[in-house]
Amino acid sequence: MFPNVLFEPPTSFKAGFPSDYEIGTVDMRWKDKFGVFIIRSAEGLYALSNVCTHLGCTVNWLGGENKFKCPCHGSGYYKNGINFEGPTPRPLERFAVSLAEDGQILIDKSKKYQQEKGQWNDPNSFLNV
Ligand code: FES
Repeated sequence: MFPNVLFEPPTSFKAGFPSDYEIGTVDMRWKDKFGVFIIRSAEGLYALSNVCTHLGCTVNWLGGENKFKCPCHGSGYYKNGINFEGPTPRPLERFAVSLAEDGQILIDKSKKYQQEKGQWNDPNSFLNV
């Protein structure tokens, strides 16, 4: 007999301070635990899902080729999450990102933003820091 308990990771987490992230890099410190890449650009910061939008495999960041690549059927995505090769029909999804009261980045995975629906214009999909 085993207890019927499902352990799921929390849907939101604090990801440190914006200054912990280098401009221009794809940060992978939360990839394994939460399935999130954090990217800081000159304009700000966004959180990309690591779930391929083709059939749901886990994408990897290939720094040497400057792209996300899915090992299952070869879909590729630019650093901003836009798809450009392989069978996937749409970009990676972004998660809600905001600043908590203590100044740390707060990622909320329960809220997703899809580029093809115009949702990346939502101020919650991007952090101006
Ligand atoms: S699941 Fe990623 S390319 Fe098919």
